[in-house]
Amino acid sequence: MNRKMGLMMAMGLLISAPLLSKDYLISTPRTSLLITANKGEKSKMQYYGVSITPVQIQNIYDAGLAFEADSYPAFGLQTVGEKAVAITHADGNMSLDLGVDNVKQYGIDDGEILEVLLKDKIYPVWVKQCYKAYKGTDIITTWVEIGNAGKKPVTLFQFASAYLPMFRGDNWLTHFHGAWGAEHTMDEEKLTNGQKVIANKDGLANTETDNPSFMLSLDGKPQEETGKVFGGVLAWSGNYKLKLDVRNTALNIIVGMNEESSQYILEPKETFVTPEFAMTYSTNGKGGVSRAFHHWARQYKMNQGERLHDILLNSWEGVYFKVNQKGMDEMMEAFSAMGGELFVMDDGWFGNKYPRNGGNSSLGDWEVCKEKLPEGIEGLLASARKHHIKFGIWIEPEMSNTKSELFEKHPDWILKIDNRPLSTGRGKTQVVLDLTNPKVQDFVFGVVDNLMTNYPEISYMKWDDNCSLLDYGSSYLPKNKQSHLYIEYNRGLQKVLQRIRAKYPELVMQLCAGGGARVNYGLLPYFDEFWTSDDTDALQRIYMQWGVSGFFPAIAMASHVSADKNHQTGRRIPLKFRFDVAMSGRLGMEIQPKDMNDVDKAFAKRAIAAYKDIRPVVQFGDLYRLVSPYDNKGVSSLMYVTSEKNKAVFYAYKISHFINMVIPKVCMNGLDPSKNYRLVDLTPVDSSKPCDLNGKIISGKILMEEGIALKSLLKSEYSSLALQLQAVD
Ligand code: DGJ
Repeated sequence: MNRKMGLMMAMGLLISAPLLSKDYLISTPRTSLLITANKGEKSKMQYYGVSITPVQIQNIYDAGLAFEADSYPAFGLQTVGEKAVAITHADGNMSLDLGVDNVKQYGIDDGEILEVLLKDKIYPVWVKQCYKAYKGTDIITTWVEIGNAGKKPVTLFQFASAYLPMFRGDNWLTHFHGAWGAEHTMDEEKLTNGQKVIANKDGLANTETDNPSFMLSLDGKPQEETGKVFGGVLAWSGNYKLKLDVRNTALNIIVGMNEESSQYILEPKETFVTPEFAMTYSTNGKGGVSRAFHHWARQYKMNQGERLHDILLNSWEGVYFKVNQKGMDEMMEAFSAMGGELFVMDDGWFGNKYPRNGGNSSLGDWEVCKEKLPEGIEGLLASARKHHIKFGIWIEPEMSNTKSELFEKHPDWILKIDNRPLSTGRGKTQVVLDLTNPKVQDFVFGVVDNLMTNYPEISYMKWDDNCSLLDYGSSYLPKNKQSHLYIEYNRGLQKVLQRIRAKYPELVMQLCAGGGARVNYGLLPYFDEFWTSDDTDALQRIYMQWGVSGFFPAIAMASHVSADKNHQTGRRIPLKFRFDVAMSGRLGMEIQPKDMNDVDKAFAKRAIAAYKDIRPVVQFGDLYRLVSPYDNKGVSSLMYVTSEKNKAVFYAYKISHFINMVIPKVCMNGLDPSKNYRLVDLTPVDSSKPCDLNGKIISGKILMEEGIALKSLLKSEYSSLALQLQAVD
């Protein structure tokens, strides 16, 4: 009966009808997840792996592959081991006893949903476990809704998005960690007995340190294109916790918001919804995981993921706070002459009572500083029109400074704890607005709305956040719900962003947080791209961008060419190398054009023109990582290939330099072995002297199976190569 119903479901006959059969399968083209749900019993997670058909469900049991694991273990009864949920009822009882009430499986526009409703056997509390397969991708997400059907509040102490058993074997963990200027650094380690916890407690920005994403190899040290790898990411912008619980033969993953200091009072009739945990399973190593997430992001989880991104110049490293009309006009003119498409005026343009001349004042006073910009935004837009370039602007709307008119007017809009001294961040004056307060939400929405209403020509906004949640106190939240602050802040932020997107769906917005501290899928759906790191040093960017590419597509990864010498590391790197690195993401510049000589400007112009040619391949193509900078081979290499396999872009960078060092040949990937490809040097320093590979036609089979030798091409320190590949008949 069960298998028969599975077949009927697969044929679309039972869509939307409540079901009470045993096995429920939800699938993408390459993956399947299997749940068992019998009325009154615990629901069980049985399988997550390569896709199977309903008739193959029995194979999973026969092959001994079924986990038979509680899919959402609750605290209280049989307390041994890690749990997904813990609740204290109004009478002090600390247990939940969840059994299946009913199951629904139905199709929706963008995929398929499986819902397993669990109910406590005595108390009026229910938990709905939801699974969603996103149409046209290999991503399944899972989240949970917890409801209080009683008459009194209950308190949630634990509320994981997912609790997943995994096969224990030679398991390796790949994760990403960092600090300011070194975000998204990759770490790989063998999992041993005990618990590995990756967590964040910043409150506002959750990827400066560890990222809420990881890969788990099931069969040894993870490889790029071979091996079985699970990949998962929590789509949440607030505090999170990923726990890998390894106990001899058992390996469980528990993922969700970080519950520390966040116990949640659930009122009668209220439903608590956890963030989505998105996962994929690849038999093509880490590369398969990354490509699955890149497709999902472009299709569903970033704003306008199918629109090409402009090449921009951001003013920050060029002028820092020294913004003025003449300076902005000159930058626009010079960048436009190099072929640039968009100019973004960064920090320093606002504040009149307190002009923004440094990081210690003016946030919240979002009016043009008349002294610096007497012609206002109109003057800047007029310059942009004159130079045939688009115009964008920087804001940090969630923040204020104690030295600001906003703070003087609304001291109660700030997060602070009564009777305690106020903690401050950047400039020793930066404070965070209380986004749990609807009035503050209106104000933050108004920052964008006022600019766009007054100056609809603005085509880009960079949304920054340079402060953590410092003081855990809200004058808006009731006294007994102060512990909701971490969660409610992020919900408030999402409400604001939803309003912005409803009104301005086409405004391109960059997500920035003092560099790359908000590279997460909680916020990316509202943004078109993110700032990867304040560190623009091309060498260190190779490592960070490699890490980012684990879960995020190149189209969203802002990558800028900056000054020589680099402002963060002081390193000197040739302009070609800097361009070749930036051209592997969303190309931009972060430089004062006045400081560039004519030769450099001419090179930049050619490189920008070349990027325009390859932009669709980089921004929409499939990524193949070829040689990892973390493998210490002296070289790093990657490439992008179109889905038709007729065009590709290849990059190689020399990242260490010694006499007589071995430079490995590099095998390409993702090409069609039966096609021949013409190679074009995209960025020769001297356009009359392209590299030796330029113009050569080589078969896809040779390029992939034997590769290309780089020893004569990457000779000098910081030499690099950017090649276009075009299939020829
Ligand atoms: C931090 C950002 O990451 C920088 O790019 C720049 O916008 C500054 N803030 C401005 O204060």
